[in-house]
Amino acid sequence: MERILLIGSGGREHALAKALVASSSCEKLWATPGNPGIEREAECVALNIADHDAVARFCMKNDVTLVVIGPEQPLSEGLADSLREENIDVFGPDKAAAQLESSKGFSKDFMARHHIPTALFKRFANTQRTAAVDYARNHAVPVVIKYDGLAAGKGVVVATTNAEAVIAVNEMFDGAFGTDGVVIEDFLVGHEASVFAICDGRDYVTLAPAQDHKRIGDGDTGKNTGGMGAYAPAPVVTADIMETIRARVIKPVIDGMREEGSPFIGCLFCGLMIDGDDVHVVEFNARFGDPETQSVLGVLDADVAKLFASAARGSIDASAIRSTAIGHACTVVLASFGYPDAYEKGLVINGIDDAEQDPHVTVFHAGTARGASDHAGEQPLVTNGGRVLGVTAIADTLKNAVERAYDATAKISYATKIHRTDIAAKAL
Ligand code: AMP
Ligand code: GLY
Repeated sequence: MERILLIGSGGREHALAKALVASSSCEKLWATPGNPGIEREAECVALNIADHDAVARFCMKNDVTLVVIGPEQPLSEGLADSLREENIDVFGPDKAAAQLESSKGFSKDFMARHHIPTALFKRFANTQRTAAVDYARNHAVPVVIKYDGLAAGKGVVVATTNAEAVIAVNEMFDGAFGTDGVVIEDFLVGHEASVFAICDGRDYVTLAPAQDHKRIGDGDTGKNTGGMGAYAPAPVVTADIMETIRARVIKPVIDGMREEGSPFIGCLFCGLMIDGDDVHVVEFNARFGDPETQSVLGVLDADVAKLFASAARGSIDASAIRSTAIGHACTVVLASFGYPDAYEKGLVINGIDDAEQDPHVTVFHAGTARGASDHAGEQPLVTNGGRVLGVTAIADTLKNAVERAYDATAKISYATKIHRTDIAAKAL
């Protein structure tokens, strides 16, 4: 039986918490810092995640058998390395392996070394601004400008003119996200998909393919966000395409990382562009996707605690999965007006219980908090982030899942509520 500590506080972690507590191998679940939704599933504890010793001490004191790390930040800061040094099992890559996400340059160079299909690119260090501007000015458009380091899903600009490309490069060198330089790459056409591989450093299993909706506006317009909605399974990933992804992408990554001395243990997120039979990698992440996870775990029938624990211990137990796709899931993200730029916080949220009257609907908390006590001494739920909630519905068909998700979405209200109205429309 596993005693599990889950790290994180977003919608993804709420979905992970729900799946972990539902696992027959899970005896006890803590989350840090958690959120008001995760509180329904786990005992939330306040730990300073940046203080690795404090996290390790908590684990030892409470006989934690497995730590599951949700977000990229603690992975890129080496939390997994520190815990493994204390012989604590971790589902999540160490700092070196997390570079697949934390450095776009590392990831692109790695793909080039291992012949993994991806857009042609050039990498510019922080000292190479003039060369990067020249390159952007003369590149065929559209051209894609990426900040080399972590940027919460916002460090990518698809420029349709050279002038726009130059502005994006300059903004990044002016320090919009930090001092990690940029990658400039060719624009890929096709349909995007996200495939998650649960990896033990040597072997892996894939979960149901999903499709995210990265842009803020309907019809894929406006700025890139962390993700505004997702559905799974995504039919664009046919059985043949999945085979290609396994052979040309996932296996070479796992073999390559192991050969290079950084075995990848955790969830390898492959962001892919699919054009006919062609597959290219858009990006890797070293963790589950948000909001894809809410949909992917919604259709997964598995002992997730056993799956993650076996991967963390270097010998993945594929029998922990009974089915990767029972039915269809659709997740609609409810965000705050203004996101992905500035937005107001602290607005009272109503209607979640009503939305969850449908037993096939779960409302995952992403950016919520408890507000100040009202006159009755109750602390109302309030908005506390750009992405506030994720409404996930499961049904026998994708069409029904979408309808269910939007019916539930309509029951939730807060003053700054915005959401896309076309999640999964492309697949229907
Ligand atoms: P990333 O953070 O690398 O996933 O990029 C965010 C989004 O930008 C992706 O989901 C794509 O929609 C878009 N994007 C990134 N790279 C490319 C590319 N080379 N060609 C076309 N679109 C891209
Ligand atoms: N939904 C995309 C991500 O998690 O990065």
